[in-house]
Amino acid sequence: MKKNIAVLAGDGIGPEVMSQALLVLDAVAKQFGHQFTISEGLVGGAAYDKGGTHLPDETKALCQSSDAILFGSVGGPVAQQHLDKWKNCEANSILSLRKLFSFNANLRPVRILPELQALSPLKAEIIQKGVDLVIVRELLGDCYFGEHKQFIEGGMRQASDLSLYTEEQIANVAHTAFRLAKMRRKKVTSVDKANVLAASKLWRTVVKEIAQEYPDIQTENLLVDNCAMQLVINPSQFDVVLTTNMFGDILSDVAAVLPGSLGLLASASLNSSGFGLYEPPGGSAPDIAGKDIANPIAQINSVALLLRLSFGLETEALSIEQAVESTLKDGFRTKDIYRPEAAKDTNLSLVGTQQMTNQILKHLSGVEHHVR
Ligand code: IPM
Ligand code: MG
Repeated sequence: MKKNIAVLAGDGIGPEVMSQALLVLDAVAKQFGHQFTISEGLVGGAAYDKGGTHLPDETKALCQSSDAILFGSVGGPVAQQHLDKWKNCEANSILSLRKLFSFNANLRPVRILPELQALSPLKAEIIQKGVDLVIVRELLGDCYFGEHKQFIEGGMRQASDLSLYTEEQIANVAHTAFRLAKMRRKKVTSVDKANVLAASKLWRTVVKEIAQEYPDIQTENLLVDNCAMQLVINPSQFDVVLTTNMFGDILSDVAAVLPGSLGLLASASLNSSGFGLYEPPGGSAPDIAGKDIANPIAQINSVALLLRLSFGLETEALSIEQAVESTLKDGFRTKDIYRPEAAKDTNLSLVGTQQMTNQILKHLSGVEHHVR
Protein backbone atom coordinates (compact mmCIF):
# COMPACT_ATOMS: atom_id res chain seq x y z
CA MET A 1 0.00 0.00 0.00
CA LYS A 2 1.24 3.52 -0.84
CA LYS A 3 0.05 6.41 1.32
CA ASN A 4 1.03 9.97 2.23
CA ILE A 5 0.99 10.93 5.89
CA ALA A 6 1.17 14.52 7.13
CA VAL A 7 3.15 14.63 10.37
CA LEU A 8 2.60 17.61 12.70
CA ALA A 9 4.79 17.06 15.76
CA GLY A 10 4.06 20.42 17.45
CA ASP A 11 5.43 21.47 20.84
CA GLY A 12 6.73 20.11 24.13
CA ILE A 13 7.18 16.34 24.06
CA GLY A 14 5.49 16.24 20.61
CA PRO A 15 8.69 16.10 18.51
CA GLU A 16 10.49 13.50 20.64
CA VAL A 17 7.60 11.05 20.91
CA MET A 18 6.77 11.62 17.24
CA SER A 19 10.29 10.67 16.15
CA GLN A 20 9.87 7.38 18.04
CA ALA A 21 6.42 6.73 16.57
CA LEU A 22 7.87 7.25 13.10
CA LEU A 23 10.48 4.56 13.79
CA VAL A 24 7.62 2.19 14.54
CA LEU A 25 5.72 3.25 11.42
CA ASP A 26 8.84 2.68 9.36
CA ALA A 27 9.37 -0.77 10.86
CA VAL A 28 5.78 -1.77 10.09
CA ALA A 29 6.08 -0.44 6.53
CA LYS A 30 9.21 -2.56 5.94
CA GLN A 31 7.76 -5.65 7.57
CA PHE A 32 4.47 -5.59 5.68
CA GLY A 33 5.73 -4.10 2.41
CA HIS A 34 4.01 -0.70 2.52
CA GLN A 35 5.27 2.66 1.35
CA PHE A 36 4.33 5.49 3.66
CA THR A 37 5.59 8.91 2.58
CA ILE A 38 6.02 11.24 5.53
CA SER A 39 5.79 15.04 5.13
CA GLU A 40 6.35 17.17 8.19
CA GLY A 41 4.44 20.40 8.84
CA LEU A 42 4.58 23.08 11.52
CA VAL A 43 1.81 23.61 14.04
CA GLY A 44 1.31 25.31 17.40
CA GLY A 45 4.05 27.37 19.06
CA ALA A 46 6.62 25.81 16.75
CA ALA A 47 4.74 27.30 13.77
CA TYR A 48 4.22 30.63 15.56
CA ASP A 49 7.97 31.06 15.99
CA LYS A 50 8.49 30.83 12.23
CA GLY A 51 5.47 32.60 10.76
CA GLY A 52 3.39 34.24 13.51
CA THR A 53 0.46 31.81 13.21
CA HIS A 54 -0.42 28.54 14.95
CA LEU A 55 -1.72 26.83 11.81
CA PRO A 56 0.08 28.13 8.70
CA ASP A 57 -1.46 27.82 5.22
CA GLU A 58 1.38 25.49 4.13
CA THR A 59 0.46 23.10 6.94
CA LYS A 60 -3.20 23.17 5.91
CA ALA A 61 -2.23 22.47 2.30
CA LEU A 62 0.05 19.64 3.38
CA CYS A 63 -2.79 18.05 5.35
CA GLN A 64 -5.17 18.52 2.43
CA SER A 65 -2.85 16.64 0.11
CA SER A 66 -2.28 13.73 2.51
CA ASP A 67 -4.18 10.51 3.23
CA ALA A 68 -4.08 10.93 7.01
CA ILE A 69 -2.67 13.28 9.65
CA LEU A 70 -0.47 12.16 12.52
CA PHE A 71 -0.51 14.89 15.16
CA GLY A 72 1.78 15.31 18.19
CA SER A 73 0.73 17.90 20.72
CA VAL A 74 0.60 21.70 20.99
CA GLY A 75 0.76 24.27 23.74
CA GLY A 76 3.27 25.87 26.10
CA PRO A 77 4.12 26.08 29.79
CA VAL A 78 1.45 27.41 32.16
CA ALA A 79 3.70 30.25 33.26
CA GLN A 80 4.08 31.48 29.67
CA GLN A 81 0.41 31.46 28.62
CA HIS A 82 0.36 35.27 28.42
CA LEU A 83 2.86 35.29 25.52
CA ASP A 84 1.41 35.65 22.00
CA LYS A 85 3.19 32.45 21.03
CA TRP A 86 1.02 30.43 23.42
CA LYS A 87 -2.20 32.49 23.59
CA ASN A 88 -5.08 30.37 22.19
CA CYS A 89 -2.47 28.01 20.76
CA GLU A 90 -4.50 24.80 21.32
CA ALA A 91 -7.76 26.25 20.07
CA ASN A 92 -6.14 27.93 17.04
CA SER A 93 -4.41 24.73 16.03
CA ILE A 94 -6.84 21.98 16.96
CA LEU A 95 -10.24 23.63 16.56
CA SER A 96 -9.22 25.08 13.17
CA LEU A 97 -8.17 21.66 11.90
CA ARG A 98 -11.47 20.17 13.10
CA LYS A 99 -13.42 22.85 11.28
CA LEU A 100 -11.27 22.76 8.13
CA PHE A 101 -11.65 19.00 7.66
CA SER A 102 -15.16 18.69 9.16
CA PHE A 103 -13.90 16.19 11.71
CA ASN A 104 -17.24 15.41 13.28
CA ALA A 105 -16.31 12.48 15.48
CA ASN A 106 -13.59 12.00 18.04
CA LEU A 107 -12.86 8.42 19.05
CA ARG A 108 -11.00 7.76 22.24
CA PRO A 109 -10.43 4.10 23.09
CA VAL A 110 -9.69 3.43 26.76
CA ARG A 111 -8.45 0.06 28.01
CA ILE A 112 -6.95 -0.94 31.31
CA LEU A 113 -4.24 -3.44 30.45
CA PRO A 114 -4.00 -6.33 32.92
CA GLU A 115 -0.29 -5.70 33.45
CA LEU A 116 -0.96 -2.05 34.38
CA GLN A 117 -4.00 -2.59 36.61
CA ALA A 118 -2.12 -1.44 39.66
CA LEU A 119 -1.69 2.01 38.09
CA SER A 120 -5.40 2.69 37.84
CA PRO A 121 -6.80 5.11 40.42
CA LEU A 122 -9.71 2.66 40.74
CA LYS A 123 -9.80 -0.23 43.21
CA ALA A 124 -9.02 -3.73 41.91
CA GLU A 125 -12.57 -4.98 42.56
CA ILE A 126 -13.99 -2.23 40.31
CA ILE A 127 -11.80 -3.05 37.33
CA GLN A 128 -11.56 -6.83 37.69
CA LYS A 129 -14.25 -7.39 35.04
CA GLY A 130 -12.09 -5.46 32.57
CA VAL A 131 -12.30 -1.95 31.19
CA ASP A 132 -12.43 -1.65 27.40
CA LEU A 133 -14.53 1.24 26.11
CA VAL A 134 -14.51 3.89 23.39
CA ILE A 135 -15.83 7.39 23.83
CA VAL A 136 -17.31 8.72 20.58
CA ARG A 137 -17.58 12.48 20.94
CA GLU A 138 -19.34 14.76 18.45
CA LEU A 139 -16.85 17.46 17.46
CA LEU A 140 -18.52 20.17 15.37
CA GLY A 141 -21.68 21.19 17.21
CA ASP A 142 -22.72 22.28 20.69
CA CYS A 143 -21.36 25.39 22.39
CA TYR A 144 -17.96 24.91 20.75
CA PHE A 145 -18.97 26.37 17.40
CA GLY A 146 -22.22 28.19 18.34
CA GLU A 147 -22.08 31.98 18.76
CA HIS A 148 -19.91 33.15 21.67
CA LYS A 149 -20.65 36.64 22.96
CA GLN A 150 -20.07 38.99 25.83
CA PHE A 151 -22.36 41.97 26.23
CA ILE A 152 -23.71 44.51 28.68
CA GLU A 153 -27.44 44.76 29.33
CA GLY A 154 -29.05 46.86 32.06
CA GLY A 155 -25.56 47.80 33.23
CA MET A 156 -24.76 44.11 33.84
CA ARG A 157 -21.93 42.25 32.11
CA GLN A 158 -23.26 39.07 30.55
CA ALA A 159 -21.95 36.29 28.33
CA SER A 160 -23.44 33.42 26.38
CA ASP A 161 -22.30 30.46 24.30
CA LEU A 162 -24.93 29.07 21.99
CA SER A 163 -25.24 25.29 22.09
CA LEU A 164 -26.68 24.28 18.72
CA TYR A 165 -27.21 20.85 17.17
CA THR A 166 -28.67 19.94 13.80
CA GLU A 167 -30.25 16.53 13.29
CA GLU A 168 -27.67 15.87 10.59
CA GLN A 169 -24.76 16.43 12.98
CA ILE A 170 -26.30 14.07 15.52
CA ALA A 171 -27.12 11.42 12.91
CA ASN A 172 -23.60 11.50 11.45
CA VAL A 173 -21.83 10.85 14.73
CA ALA A 174 -24.47 8.34 15.82
CA HIS A 175 -23.78 6.26 12.69
CA THR A 176 -20.07 6.30 13.54
CA ALA A 177 -20.83 5.02 17.05
CA PHE A 178 -23.21 2.27 15.90
CA ARG A 179 -20.85 1.06 13.17
CA LEU A 180 -18.07 0.88 15.74
CA ALA A 181 -20.26 -1.02 18.21
CA LYS A 182 -20.96 -3.60 15.50
CA MET A 183 -17.24 -4.44 15.49
CA ARG A 184 -17.08 -4.54 19.29
CA ARG A 185 -19.40 -5.74 22.09
CA LYS A 186 -22.53 -4.33 20.40
CA LYS A 187 -23.62 -1.80 22.98
CA VAL A 188 -24.04 1.97 22.62
CA THR A 189 -24.63 4.22 25.63
CA SER A 190 -25.84 7.63 24.46
CA VAL A 191 -25.12 10.38 26.96
CA ASP A 192 -27.02 13.67 27.16
CA LYS A 193 -28.81 16.04 29.53
CA ALA A 194 -32.28 15.53 28.08
CA ASN A 195 -33.96 16.31 31.39
CA VAL A 196 -32.92 19.96 30.94
CA LEU A 197 -31.51 20.88 27.52
CA ALA A 198 -33.42 21.22 24.23
CA ALA A 199 -30.33 20.22 22.23
CA SER A 200 -30.13 17.05 24.34
CA LYS A 201 -33.81 16.27 23.74
CA LEU A 202 -33.19 16.41 19.99
CA TRP A 203 -30.01 14.36 20.51
CA ARG A 204 -31.95 11.60 22.26
CA THR A 205 -34.71 11.57 19.62
CA VAL A 206 -32.31 11.36 16.67
CA VAL A 207 -30.11 8.71 18.32
CA LYS A 208 -33.25 6.61 18.91
CA GLU A 209 -34.19 6.91 15.21
CA ILE A 210 -30.70 5.91 14.05
CA ALA A 211 -30.63 3.01 16.54
CA GLN A 212 -33.51 1.42 14.64
CA GLU A 213 -31.16 0.88 11.70
CA TYR A 214 -28.92 -1.22 13.96
CA PRO A 215 -31.24 -3.81 15.54
CA ASP A 216 -28.35 -5.99 16.74
CA ILE A 217 -26.95 -3.19 18.89
CA GLN A 218 -28.17 -2.70 22.44
CA THR A 219 -28.81 1.03 22.99
CA GLU A 220 -29.29 2.84 26.27
CA ASN A 221 -29.49 6.49 27.37
CA LEU A 222 -27.68 7.94 30.33
CA LEU A 223 -27.71 11.44 31.75
CA VAL A 224 -24.27 12.99 31.75
CA ASP A 225 -24.00 13.44 35.51
CA ASN A 226 -24.84 9.78 36.04
CA CYS A 227 -22.40 8.76 33.31
CA ALA A 228 -19.55 10.62 35.03
CA MET A 229 -20.33 8.68 38.18
CA GLN A 230 -20.69 5.32 36.40
CA LEU A 231 -17.33 5.75 34.66
CA VAL A 232 -15.73 5.77 38.08
CA ILE A 233 -17.81 3.18 39.95
CA ASN A 234 -18.53 0.69 37.14
CA PRO A 235 -16.62 1.38 33.90
CA SER A 236 -16.87 -2.29 32.80
CA GLN A 237 -20.50 -1.73 31.79
CA PHE A 238 -19.47 0.49 28.86
CA ASP A 239 -18.61 -0.48 25.30
CA VAL A 240 -19.25 2.55 23.04
CA VAL A 241 -20.18 5.80 24.78
CA LEU A 242 -21.73 8.28 22.34
CA THR A 243 -21.98 11.89 23.43
CA THR A 244 -22.06 15.60 22.59
CA ASN A 245 -19.06 17.86 22.09
CA MET A 246 -19.00 19.51 25.53
CA PHE A 247 -19.94 16.42 27.54
CA GLY A 248 -17.49 14.38 25.47
CA ASP A 249 -14.66 16.78 26.27
CA ILE A 250 -15.21 16.23 29.99
CA LEU A 251 -16.11 12.52 29.98
CA SER A 252 -13.20 11.59 27.75
CA ASP A 253 -10.80 13.11 30.27
CA VAL A 254 -12.50 11.20 33.09
CA ALA A 255 -12.13 7.99 31.06
CA ALA A 256 -8.54 8.86 30.15
CA VAL A 257 -7.31 8.76 33.75
CA LEU A 258 -8.67 5.27 34.36
CA PRO A 259 -5.64 3.44 32.87
CA GLY A 260 -3.33 5.41 35.15
CA SER A 261 -1.40 7.51 32.65
CA LEU A 262 -2.29 9.80 29.77
CA GLY A 263 0.90 8.57 28.14
CA LEU A 264 -0.81 5.40 26.92
CA LEU A 265 -3.84 6.58 24.97
CA ALA A 266 -4.51 7.39 21.34
CA SER A 267 -7.38 9.28 19.81
CA ALA A 268 -8.81 9.74 16.32
CA SER A 269 -10.77 12.62 14.83
CA LEU A 270 -12.65 11.53 11.71
CA ASN A 271 -14.87 13.09 9.06
CA SER A 272 -17.66 11.35 7.22
CA SER A 273 -15.44 10.42 4.29
CA GLY A 274 -13.07 8.56 6.62
CA PHE A 275 -10.21 11.08 6.56
CA GLY A 276 -8.66 11.28 10.00
CA LEU A 277 -6.27 12.98 12.40
CA TYR A 278 -4.61 10.83 15.05
CA GLU A 279 -3.13 12.18 18.25
CA PRO A 280 -2.31 11.35 21.85
CA PRO A 281 -4.78 13.33 23.97
CA GLY A 282 -2.30 13.88 26.76
CA GLY A 283 -1.00 17.34 25.92
CA SER A 284 2.47 18.74 25.26
CA ALA A 285 3.86 18.31 28.82
CA PRO A 286 6.52 21.04 28.42
CA ASP A 287 7.88 20.33 31.91
CA ILE A 288 9.30 16.99 30.81
CA ALA A 289 10.13 17.88 27.18
CA GLY A 290 13.58 17.14 25.81
CA LYS A 291 14.59 14.89 28.72
CA ASP A 292 13.98 11.48 27.13
CA ILE A 293 11.48 10.60 29.86
CA ALA A 294 8.13 11.03 28.06
CA ASN A 295 6.14 7.89 27.39
CA PRO A 296 6.10 7.29 23.59
CA ILE A 297 3.27 4.73 23.79
CA ALA A 298 0.39 7.18 23.24
CA GLN A 299 1.97 8.43 20.02
CA ILE A 300 2.85 4.88 18.94
CA ASN A 301 -0.72 3.73 19.63
CA SER A 302 -1.90 6.70 17.54
CA VAL A 303 0.04 5.21 14.61
CA ALA A 304 -1.78 1.91 15.19
CA LEU A 305 -5.14 3.66 15.20
CA LEU A 306 -4.25 5.51 11.98
CA LEU A 307 -3.34 2.29 10.22
CA ARG A 308 -6.54 0.63 11.42
CA LEU A 309 -9.07 3.39 10.79
CA SER A 310 -7.68 5.33 7.84
CA PHE A 311 -5.96 2.56 5.89
CA GLY A 312 -7.89 -0.52 7.07
CA LEU A 313 -4.63 -2.23 8.09
CA GLU A 314 -5.94 -4.22 11.06
CA THR A 315 -3.12 -6.78 11.23
CA GLU A 316 -0.49 -4.04 11.19
CA ALA A 317 -2.37 -2.07 13.87
CA LEU A 318 -2.66 -5.16 16.07
CA SER A 319 0.99 -6.00 15.66
CA ILE A 320 1.91 -2.56 17.05
CA GLU A 321 -0.54 -2.84 19.94
CA GLN A 322 0.71 -6.31 20.77
CA ALA A 323 4.34 -5.20 20.65
CA VAL A 324 3.43 -2.45 23.12
CA GLU A 325 1.65 -4.91 25.41
CA SER A 326 4.51 -7.41 25.28
CA THR A 327 6.97 -4.67 26.17
CA LEU A 328 4.84 -3.77 29.18
CA LYS A 329 4.57 -7.46 30.11
CA ASP A 330 8.37 -7.63 30.03
CA GLY A 331 8.32 -4.98 32.75
CA PHE A 332 9.64 -1.96 30.84
CA ARG A 333 8.24 1.28 32.22
CA THR A 334 8.71 4.96 31.50
CA LYS A 335 8.59 7.24 34.53
CA ASP A 336 4.84 7.94 34.34
CA ILE A 337 4.00 4.23 34.70
CA TYR A 338 6.88 3.11 36.93
CA ARG A 339 5.49 2.11 40.35
CA PRO A 340 7.64 -0.77 41.58
CA GLU A 341 5.88 -0.77 44.98
CA ALA A 342 2.56 -1.57 43.26
CA ALA A 343 3.91 -4.50 41.20
CA LYS A 344 5.06 -7.04 43.77
CA ASP A 345 5.97 -10.01 41.60
CA THR A 346 7.20 -8.30 38.46
CA ASN A 347 10.68 -7.11 37.81
CA LEU A 348 10.29 -3.60 36.47
CA SER A 349 12.90 -1.66 34.52
CA LEU A 350 12.69 2.11 34.37
CA VAL A 351 13.49 3.21 30.81
CA GLY A 352 13.55 6.44 28.79
CA THR A 353 11.55 7.38 25.70
CA GLN A 354 14.01 5.86 23.25
CA GLN A 355 14.69 2.67 25.21
CA MET A 356 10.96 2.04 25.49
CA THR A 357 10.61 2.38 21.71
CA ASN A 358 13.58 0.09 21.12
CA GLN A 359 11.91 -2.63 23.17
CA ILE A 360 8.67 -2.18 21.21
CA LEU A 361 10.63 -2.38 17.94
CA LYS A 362 12.23 -5.64 19.10
CA HIS A 363 8.80 -7.18 19.69
CA LEU A 364 7.50 -5.83 16.39
CA SER A 365 10.07 -7.69 14.38
CA GLY A 366 9.56 -10.89 16.39
CA VAL A 367 5.90 -10.97 17.36
CA GLU A 368 3.35 -13.50 16.34
CA HIS A 369 0.17 -11.90 15.12
CA HIS A 370 -2.76 -13.28 17.01
CA VAL A 371 -6.11 -11.58 16.80
CA ARG A 372 -7.45 -10.26 20.08
C1 IPM B 1 -9.56 18.21 23.55
C2 IPM B 1 -9.11 19.55 24.06
C3 IPM B 1 -9.69 20.65 23.16
C4 IPM B 1 -11.19 20.58 23.27
C5 IPM B 1 -9.18 22.07 23.49
C6 IPM B 1 -7.68 22.16 23.47
C7 IPM B 1 -9.79 23.12 22.59
O1 IPM B 1 -9.46 19.72 25.39
O2 IPM B 1 -9.22 17.84 22.41
O3 IPM B 1 -10.26 17.51 24.27
O4 IPM B 1 -11.78 21.16 24.20
O5 IPM B 1 -11.80 19.93 22.43
MG1 MG C 1 -10.37 18.07 26.27
